[in-house]
Amino acid sequence: MDPLKFFLVTDTHYFDVSFKASGPAYEERSRIDQKCVAETPYIIDAGFKKLADDKETEIILIPGDLVYRGEFQSHVGFREKLYKLKEQGKKIYLITARHDYSDNPVEFDADKLIPVKGMPREELRDFYKDFGFDAAISEHKKSMSYVVKLQEGFRLLALNCDGDCKDFKGLWDDQMAWALEQIKEAHEAGDYIFAMTHYPLLPFSPVMEFIGDAKLTDWEKRANEFADAGLSLIFTGHMHAQAVTEFTSKNGNKITDVQTGCFVGCPCAYRKVTIDEENVNIESFTIEDFEWDKGGKTGAEYFQWRFDRMITDIIDAMAFDFAFFTRLFGGPEKNKKLKVPVTMAGKLLQKLKLKHLGRLFLFNVDKSIGDRLVKDVCVEFVRNIFVGDEPYVKGTPMYDAVSKLLKRLHPITNIAGKKLGGKNPVLADIDSFVLSMIGDEKQRDYTANFKR
Ligand SMILES: [Fe+2]
Ligand SMILES: [Fe+2]
Repeated sequence: MDPLKFFLVTDTHYFDVSFKASGPAYEERSRIDQKCVAETPYIIDAGFKKLADDKETEIILIPGDLVYRGEFQSHVGFREKLYKLKEQGKKIYLITARHDYSDNPVEFDADKLIPVKGMPREELRDFYKDFGFDAAISEHKKSMSYVVKLQEGFRLLALNCDGDCKDFKGLWDDQMAWALEQIKEAHEAGDYIFAMTHYPLLPFSPVMEFIGDAKLTDWEKRANEFADAGLSLIFTGHMHAQAVTEFTSKNGNKITDVQTGCFVGCPCAYRKVTIDEENVNIESFTIEDFEWDKGGKTGAEYFQWRFDRMITDIIDAMAFDFAFFTRLFGGPEKNKKLKVPVTMAGKLLQKLKLKHLGRLFLFNVDKSIGDRLVKDVCVEFVRNIFVGDEPYVKGTPMYDAVSKLLKRLHPITNIAGKKLGGKNPVLADIDSFVLSMIGDEKQRDYTANFKR
């Protein structure tokens, strides 16, 4: 049996080239978003060219968030790009997600948001019928999910997880029953079946346990059910992070969630996957460049700058632009009392270096990192969680500094750990919780090889 090869691309968030996307209204939205929007036509063209140039890989899977925010015209433009790939010999299988439909999408003109036509959710299946749905061997129409046979011996379970399109992001019971039936049928036919869905099945970092949006609403229940049904592999997106996460069910069965980063935001990654009769092999690539005035930055620098700005802007606003800060966090009335402490903290963060922090808390900071601003380090920690393969593992000066700081903070964190640990065991040991966020011992978020 030939091994299966495919690309996994997600969260393309295409914003049609015909839309206006500049001026103060556009800038204000961009300041708090890591993904590029006006740039998407050019980033996607550069990325799709790389896919087209790879002649040995025909299949492309896309688990949703195809366009920016449900603009009809963005879908028209994006689908055209998909048809072009098809003409070049690619077979594309996709599902849609919550950014793919909307009643009130906009374009950006000077300081105004101008309404544009939206895509109704119920039209998406037929609109994309040539990209998976019409090739299905089984379809769960109500949820816009399907199964296709990708090639001899391999099936894909494509699961839409829009849920109730409000708080519930997950799989309905009848959808799940259908999915479990599909897994069983594939196994009976001797086929290997794996899944893709938009929301991550598993929290990819301990901190993601606390972010509602970071995984399916009913993730634990579904992860147990899937693993016990013999589904061992699922591809996801949505959080715009690169992460390979494993889960073992109560009955001892394993499932791996391969989450792929956003195609149009830091680190602009996509994956190439090979599955043979025994193993899953994952390689990852990034889009290094695209046509755009990047102010002298390389593609990678530009994407990183966009990501970092999202956080540095908030820290800078604490110090210098309290009005902007309050617009982000609940409005001026609620935050009036906070103006003095927030401004003071913001100003302190502008200058505070790691070596100062060391002096303050009586620990040594290695010379190689002593002059780094605490603010920059915090931004980097957050970015690393999303970029993946977090580098600060045991033995690095940064790990050393953070673990020493945590030791000094024990009088506080011990009490907090006891209190919070009761609610969520992840927080019982604050030191391990924090250290696991800055360093990933496994280093398998980009390159991984495991039993299928
Ligand atoms: Fe997204
Ligand atoms: Fe999403």
